[in-house]
Amino acid sequence: MALKFITAEEAASYVHHDDNVGFSGFTPAGCPKAVPVAIAKKAKEEHEKGNPFQIGMFTGASTGDKLDGELARAQAIKFRTPYQSNKDLRALMNSGGTHYFDQHLSEIPQSLRYGFLGKVNVAIIEASDVTDDGEIVPTSAVGITPTICRLADLIIVELNHFHPKAIRGMHDIYEPNDPPYRREIPIYTPSDRIGTPYVKVDPAKIVGVVQTDIPNEGGAFTPLDEATLAIGRNVATFLVGEMKAGRLPKDFVPLQSGVGNVANAVLASMGDNKEIPPFNVYTEVIQDSVIKLMKEGRVKFASGCSLTVSNEVLNDIYANLDFFKDKILLRPQEISNNPEVARRLGLVAINTALEADIFGNINSTHVSGTRMMNGIGGSGDFTRASMLSIFTTPSTAKDGKISAFVPMVSHLDHNEHSVKVMISEYGVADLRGTSPVQRARLIIDNCVHPDYRPLLNEYLQMGIKGHTPQNLKCCFAFHLELANSGDMRNVNWNKYK
Ligand code: COA
Repeated sequence: MALKFITAEEAASYVHHDDNVGFSGFTPAGCPKAVPVAIAKKAKEEHEKGNPFQIGMFTGASTGDKLDGELARAQAIKFRTPYQSNKDLRALMNSGGTHYFDQHLSEIPQSLRYGFLGKVNVAIIEASDVTDDGEIVPTSAVGITPTICRLADLIIVELNHFHPKAIRGMHDIYEPNDPPYRREIPIYTPSDRIGTPYVKVDPAKIVGVVQTDIPNEGGAFTPLDEATLAIGRNVATFLVGEMKAGRLPKDFVPLQSGVGNVANAVLASMGDNKEIPPFNVYTEVIQDSVIKLMKEGRVKFASGCSLTVSNEVLNDIYANLDFFKDKILLRPQEISNNPEVARRLGLVAINTALEADIFGNINSTHVSGTRMMNGIGGSGDFTRASMLSIFTTPSTAKDGKISAFVPMVSHLDHNEHSVKVMISEYGVADLRGTSPVQRARLIIDNCVHPDYRPLLNEYLQMGIKGHTPQNLKCCFAFHLELANSGDMRNVNWNKYK
């Protein structure tokens, strides 16, 4: 069946008010960029005519501004799941302008298949290639593409010529059966290929192909500062110690590393520490630092869901496909983030906390307990299932006015039972086999910023006697003080007791 080429505006005419739309990609990598802009324009036109126009949005994770940003600014989002990181969408969510529900990223495809999230009316997929018989080759990410393609009534393909057709072979597309017929996912090492290099769809469902040539909206990383460099060094030194103590094998285990500036810095430091042998990466987002380490021979293989790299790095990969093609596999997030595989491979998982408490609980998502930052992403998929789960964070934020370590987290994403090690620029708190009081001592002494140590020591003394010495009157004093005076350092416990 011959493919039909259409404009982005024609594609948008297939999307109606109240439809649920699934989008390809994961982070700005692999997202459609022309059709969402046309949908946003259509939404604005409908709103001007006094008509309602909003869609439900399923994505892999965060997307680019041409998707989340345009649709948020057009007030065109009825609901949105999962992870996001766009400032306009964040503002819309935090002002009640749309419904957002945050889920573990590995679970989105099966939740869609189980019917938990409603119907997928339309799938909009960025592709590097599409054939008449319905083979769609994704671009620099996979996300939820296989599932939304299968579930959607109709598919719109954005064929983006920025991505060479020669990347066919870099993807490994596999969807598990649903219970009670599910089998094990047969990945025993990060480089195991288990699926097809393309997503196979019924070609009759492809209503049109929109041709584009648009680069990814890759954001640059903040340059490494003293704190992030020190965190990276602390992680690397800790892992070397684990190897020397025989708790990590000499040839190492695959690494999962989270998203953002801190995670990028941590990986760079691990690469610099030559006591760590060349290692494999089994992760969600492959960031710039992984590619650099691959070129230096420090990373042997990277399995992930997306190439969340700057366009400069992406162009380098595309120009050197002979080198990279047998060292990178891009998988659906249901597989890249699968807890079964994470547990089997025995990953070291390194993720970043927004806030942690002195008893080892982690808030990855909510600023001061109420404002959504991004979402839980894949951190939960990996934290619980990995062999060794590490959380990193700079000890303070906003010029020291915020302590990342508080008496009680204002929102809970990862609990004390899953978090094994906490690392800041000041040091390492190894929480394995420790009681709540022992954990608090380690975190205060080794990770907390010196400005906040006396306050948190006093808090620990004030704790109600019991297994976990919380003081329920004072446990949110840091947050209340931030709201009142703008600086957590001003806490006076007598005010709250
Ligand atoms: N309270 C308020 N703001 C805080 C804060 C706190 N406790 N801690 C950090 N911040 C702010 C920083 O000041 C910074 O603000 P800015 O953008 O205005 O400069 C912002 O949060 C990001 O902090 P940064 O230190 O640059 O960290 P990051 O880029 O590494 O991101 C997370 C950190 C937690 C937001 C990010 O890792 C995330 O979204 N994690 C959840 C998902 C996840 O872990 N995915 C990985 C799975 S593979």
